[in-house]
Amino acid sequence: MAEDLSISTSTNKAEQYAALLPQIKALLVGEPDLIANLANICAALKEQFKWFWVGFYLVKGEELVLGPFQGPIACTRIAKGKGVCGAAWEQGKTLIVPDVDDFPGHIACSSLSRSEIVLPIFHRDKIVGVLDVDSEHLSHFDDIDAKYLEQVVGLINFNE
Ligand code: SME
Repeated sequence: MAEDLSISTSTNKAEQYAALLPQIKALLVGEPDLIANLANICAALKEQFKWFWVGFYLVKGEELVLGPFQGPIACTRIAKGKGVCGAAWEQGKTLIVPDVDDFPGHIACSSLSRSEIVLPIFHRDKIVGVLDVDSEHLSHFDDIDAKYLEQVVGLINFNE
């Protein structure tokens, strides 16, 4: 396992993701524990991108329950369809929210969060959780983040 992350200093976001992805892949190799892997993915993303909040919510029954994350404390449970996370789960698609104040029903775990991206995580055609990233800047996320973060969640092995 890699001991230290090599942080890309490129100003190009796609290049930063491209440098990070193989390192995340290497972190996960040979480790079957889901929580350990989700925790390290959050740490790696936070270290590279310095986002305000990055973390996972996992589907438990009719709710999303807070999983490993990096950042300030957050809401522990989100019902299906509620907030950006619950909406991404219900709709089964990545949601990019340039201004959280414009998203009806946005759940403000922190008033400092201004924009957000949430990706559903599929396992055997079912959504098993979401990856949620928050920024304190408006319009922080775009299709590049969606493209690469989809690759990141695609690396996760949910077969424990
Ligand atoms: N803002 C999210 C809630 C989770 S926190 O941002 C960590 C939402 O509206 O679903």
